[in-house]
Order: sequence, then C-alpha cells, then structure tokens
Amino acid sequence: MTQDDMKKAAAEAALEFVPKSGIIGVGTGSTANYFIDLLATIKGRLDGAVASSVATAERLKRHGIPVVDLNEAGTLAVYVDGADEATVHRALIKGGGGALTREKIVAAASRSFVCIADEGKLVEVLGRFPLPVEVIPMARSLVAREITALGGEPVLRQGFTTDNGNVILDVHGLKILDPVALEERLNQMVGVVTNGLFARRGADVLLLGTANGVRRLS
Ligand code: A5P
Repeated sequence: MTQDDMKKAAAEAALEFVPKSGIIGVGTGSTANYFIDLLATIKGRLDGAVASSVATAERLKRHGIPVVDLNEAGTLAVYVDGADEATVHRALIKGGGGALTREKIVAAASRSFVCIADEGKLVEVLGRFPLPVEVIPMARSLVAREITALGGEPVLRQGFTTDNGNVILDVHGLKILDPVALEERLNQMVGVVTNGLFARRGADVLLLGTANGVRRLS
C-alpha cells in the first residue's frame, strides 16, 4: 500500500463524519484533496463548505460544491483536514502548505475536528517537521530573533506569501515536549499571526491510514 493509498483510505473514513445536511469545513493539502474529491460524490446532501485556503475553495467549486463565507456559516458541525505530524494525543503540526491561519480559524469554528493522515505522520515527539509560523512581514526579523532565543532555527519560506499576505518562518531544530506551552508562547510574540501547533485545540478524531486499514484515535 502506498502513502497515497493510505491518505485516500483516511479520507474515505472521514466521510462517515459528514452530517446529513448543513455546511462543513474543509482543509488544505493532498490528503484534504482526496477528501474533497470523495465529498463530491455525496455533495447533494450538503448546503456547502467553508474552505481553509484559496486552493481548496477552487477545488470545491470545480466539483460544484458551494463555497460559503465562514461569517455566514455559523458554527460548523465538522472540520476535516490533514496534518504534517501528529501524536497519539492528537496534537498536530500543520501548515506545510502555508494555510495554517485559516485552518486554525475554521477548526475553531467547528464542533469537531477530524484529522486525516497516513501513518507516516505519527510521531512520538513533534518537531522533526519544521514548525510553520505565519508572521506579519515587517516583524519577520524581530520574530526570528525571538524564536532563535527560544532555541529554534527559523528559516524564511522563500518566494511564498500566505493567502493573508504574510510570510512563513519554518522553525527547525525543535523537540516539542510541551506543545500547548510552545503554542501559547509563540502566539504571544508580537508580529506572529498564528503558529502551526494545534495542541490547545488538537484533533478530536485522528484517522490514520495504515497498511492494515484505518486506525482511529479519539
Ligand atoms: C496545509 O497548510 C497543511 O496544514 C496540511 O494540512 C498539511 O501540510 C498536510 O498536507 P498533506 O495532506 O499534503 O500531507
């Protein structure tokens, strides 16, 4: 079974969390794309979806799924999205695709966050995947110095601007033993918009595609 097969299997398992009607939140990335393609097969029962990125909005529209502004949608029943790393406690690193801020907003607006990933994303300690931090451009150097003082090695994501017009610092060299504390610490830095730790609000359900089927952690 390939990594893509495992992503697809996790995406398929998430369909059971889609309500019979209403509006859901949809994430960004290759695993979320598999979910969107599957969602198209049951789109008749949905009123629409809130997208966590411009790319996801375009894919939803191509499938004929109405894209709804979060401000018009109210509380969403469920948000389905991938992750770059996950622990068994369902703390995550996200933002490899740069959509972390909108992802965190849509997750916060949802009653349940179902995370879908292949088993290769499961780690004991978060941090091997560089932690994305979205920063207001004029604060880039200030925030980089503060992150360096914390022991991380921030690297500017070259040639990349987020959907919100900001830059990303990918922070290498972290061994994140207390993800909740680091998430809060980074959020306190002036100029930081969001960081890619989803720990204070991690996934409510983690569906991992494995060679032996889908493993569910909740
Ligand atoms: C997008 O910004 C990310 O948070 C994605 O959810 C994450 O990078 C997972 O992407 P894949 O499903 O492509 O691995």
